[in-house]
Amino acid sequence: MCKNLKRVFVAVLLAVPLIMAGGVKDVYAAEKNPCAKNPCAAKNPCAMKPKPIRTNAITDKAKLMDMGAKLWNDTKLGTSGAACATCHPDGNGLKKTPFPKYLKMPNDIVTLDQMINFCMMNPMKGKPLAWNSVELTALAAYVQANAKEDDKMMKQPCGMKQPCGMKNPCGKK
Ligand code: HEC
Repeated sequence: MCKNLKRVFVAVLLAVPLIMAGGVKDVYAAEKNPCAKNPCAAKNPCAMKPKPIRTNAITDKAKLMDMGAKLWNDTKLGTSGAACATCHPDGNGLKKTPFPKYLKMPNDIVTLDQMINFCMMNPMKGKPLAWNSVELTALAAYVQANAKEDDKMMKQPCGMKQPCGMKNPCGKK
């Protein structure tokens, strides 16, 4: 009799934390993905019409690239008389290292959009582009498509011009 009671007691003791752990797990799973709860419910946020970030959405990538190239060469974009292309012809100076990164001129860690607006406000002497504007997206698309310089080549002494020269440290054994 007493043995049985003890067994029941032990079984309950073991089961309670297991049930609790199961319950907690479920709650977390539901919280992490609110859309998993009830995807068909009317109140489900994923079923709602999303709020657009801008009224003039652009869905055509070719059009966006055209717009980026035009803006890149536009000397009227700022007030300094320069275009982005004046200092960055064919994307010169655009490096492949991903943003955000530290850049000397702003002396700050910036995202691509922030660097574009830094160049808009400083070398271009213009106004910063609106964050959600198609123009900013078009310039970002241009930068990404034309970034070619590899930072590593500059920092790495073995990337120097005369790899066969006597003075080249990389030629030494
Ligand atoms: C008067 C010259 C000048 C003009 C005009 C100019 N830039 Fe720059 N830009 C620079 C210089 C110099 C740097 C390098 C900054 C550094 O490394 O600290 C730079 C850096 C950048 C970078 C970061 C490149 C990297 O390291 O990845 C981007 C992006 C950029 N410019 C975009 C633009 C855009 C977009 C325009 C036109 C709206 C523009 N620039 C106009 C001089 C210019």
